[in-house]
Amino acid sequence: SKGNYNHFMLKEIHEQPIVVAQTLGKYIDYSKRSIDLGDLPIDLSQIPRVTLIACGTSYYAAMVAKYWFEKIAKVPVDLDIASEFRYRDAVMAEGGLTLLISQSGETADTLAALRHAKEKGQIIATIINVDGSSMARESEMVFHTYAGPEIGVASTKAFTCQLSVLACLVLATAKAKQSLSQEDEQQYVKALEEAPSLMSMALTKEDQFKTVARDLAKARDILFLGRGVDYPIALEGALKLKEISYIHAEGYAAGEMKHGPIALIDENVPVIVLAPSSEIYEKTISNMQEVLARGGKIVLISDDAGLQGYRDDSLATIELPKAKSFISPLLYSIPIQLLAYYTAIAKGTDVDQPRNLAKSVTVE
Ligand code: F6R
Repeated sequence: SKGNYNHFMLKEIHEQPIVVAQTLGKYIDYSKRSIDLGDLPIDLSQIPRVTLIACGTSYYAAMVAKYWFEKIAKVPVDLDIASEFRYRDAVMAEGGLTLLISQSGETADTLAALRHAKEKGQIIATIINVDGSSMARESEMVFHTYAGPEIGVASTKAFTCQLSVLACLVLATAKAKQSLSQEDEQQYVKALEEAPSLMSMALTKEDQFKTVARDLAKARDILFLGRGVDYPIALEGALKLKEISYIHAEGYAAGEMKHGPIALIDENVPVIVLAPSSEIYEKTISNMQEVLARGGKIVLISDDAGLQGYRDDSLATIELPKAKSFISPLLYSIPIQLLAYYTAIAKGTDVDQPRNLAKSVTVE
């Protein structure tokens, strides 16, 4: 049931601190602040290359993981959309790990990609939310997300649970490859441990999201900008908004604005900027300045330090708690989900059953 919420989507957004903590708890030994994936049938230290494959929102989780795998585990990663992977002649590393990510475990393209990678001799692992799904049955290793049933067609809690599992897999791989000191492992685990309470804090900003969403609902086009691990979150923000509010939206790597999309900017195009105060904060802000200089309407989402100097009427702001950059994709998922939700509510669309969409896409 929806409990006290008007929609499953809103309920599922609010469940995230709990289900993320539940999921993390399955892969982390908190007493030792260390990652524990249990016994695996393969040796992660021997993996030459990882291929991540998924569709839609699950693909954006994979995209975040590419940043993490390469930065923390120093493993090269290929990233593919399932429907593209299955029809291209990917050159795959001998003994490589192919990791498929799917909430339902039934998405036709992802399942076909799994079989294709298996034919190419890859080790097959999946991250899935639905027990006993087709993809789980056909994989050598299954990593569950413990999001519980996701009813809303637009994926929310499954996404942040996928990110949680991926973060743990990255840390386990880094450990196996000896590219992570015990001290660093503890720091990363500590950051993950803090994520659910930071997400809860973000969820209390509901009024700010509603106010901003009322303006967004009037727009015809909306852009989302982010850099690094927040770039996939910008893409996910645009997808969520399109799906349920039917407003055209696009996500861009902030540095790409000047290579084309800046031509779209005028006072009618809101630009949502995800800019936590991290090592790339200044870069994102300078891209934001380019938009402001052309009359663009900005919604800046950042933490206290990142909003210094912007608390005036020139732009709208949403403040989130300060988080380690490692977990910022978990935290910044909350504002993009709530902005999509409240924009759809302001437009009066059917949030849980958006037109033309199905929860599980079992056709090609
Ligand atoms: C977006 C959404 C879809 C799914 C995609 C993959 O909100 O729900 O983009 O993420 O269809 O589905 P799964 O993860 O079940 O393979």
